[in-house]
Amino acid sequence: MVPLSRVQFEHDIEQGLLEVLRSGHIAQGPAVARFEDMVAAIAGTRHCIAVSNGTVALIAAMQALGIGPGDEVITSPFTFVATLNAILTVGATARFADIDADDFLLRADAVEALVNQRTRAIMAVHLYGQTADMGALGDLAKRQNLLVIEDAAQALGATHAGRPAGSFGAGCFSFYATKNVTTGEGGAITTDDDSFADSLRVLRNQGMRSRYDYATVGSNLRMTDLQAAIGIPQLARIDEINGRRRANAAALDAVVGGVAGLQPPTVRPGNEHVFHQYTVRVLPQSSRQRDDVARQLHERGIETGVYYPRPVFDYHCFRDHPGVAADHCPVAAAIATQVLSLPVHHHLSATELDRLVGAIAGMTL
Ligand SMILES: Cc1ncc(COP(=O)(O)O)c(C=O)c1O
Repeated sequence: MVPLSRVQFEHDIEQGLLEVLRSGHIAQGPAVARFEDMVAAIAGTRHCIAVSNGTVALIAAMQALGIGPGDEVITSPFTFVATLNAILTVGATARFADIDADDFLLRADAVEALVNQRTRAIMAVHLYGQTADMGALGDLAKRQNLLVIEDAAQALGATHAGRPAGSFGAGCFSFYATKNVTTGEGGAITTDDDSFADSLRVLRNQGMRSRYDYATVGSNLRMTDLQAAIGIPQLARIDEINGRRRANAAALDAVVGGVAGLQPPTVRPGNEHVFHQYTVRVLPQSSRQRDDVARQLHERGIETGVYYPRPVFDYHCFRDHPGVAADHCPVAAAIATQVLSLPVHHHLSATELDRLVGAIAGMTL
């Protein structure tokens, strides 16, 4: 099978990890500091605060911004459940604005329709590796005096109008196993705001500004130097990693575009996409349905995935949850039945890419 993702580490990563192990400095040491500097450089921000995972990054960002019970956060219904879980963890209410049918990103006009006196923040989701409509969402946030949080878990290195993901608001990243850059588990928050960065650092370290000087209620949100050591060589190669993914996506575009009934991913004007996922849409007028297309590809040795099968709030556990507003999102509900992600990862070999392209070229829908 051509796998949807592959976790594979080069020799310099093993080497760096070994050096940290031998140094004995394995928590909140120099490797974490270096990791943070490198992520901040990619996001184009003054600060980066590394944390234990991407969900924790979202939760910590909202806590440090003072978002909690009584506040509403407007986000996308077409996202991983961590986006919603983070909002619920801080005790806020999640509202959902519908997505665009072509790029599957949050629509600024739909967000605006939900703004009310309780709205505190927009949580934009940079789905599959491209930024949401940060121009329009940023303007809206300014006009309505709202905070902007970026769920940039899938979008390290993506840009909009030359500006990197993570530089538009509180940038929250994930370094989970299958992300473009991985530390196994890991996360980070990026910002230009000195006082927000300071709050996050204090929050991350049990609320301590210095040893046993507690400034606030905190927790242990720290990343280890072992995780950072795994990430550092990948961060140094981020342009190559994302470049390979873009090249794989271009090869897929050339063939997907020739199959009637399949729609290749839409890249928004001004966006540089980093293709965490390459997700096609099986158009409703096609004679085959999405799951049928997935089966056909499986028979041809291609692994596929569905991100995401339903709007994120459309699950039993959220149905009567007081923090979840089941807003009307017909586009997200329809798109969830049509999307299919194909392998695009940077570890695909030339042979695997050939097999993938050949399998798609021979398809009839
Ligand atoms: C959109 C989105 N948000 C949040 C997360 C949470 O990140 P993590 O798995 O590192 O907690 C992920 C990744 O898993 C994600 O894809």
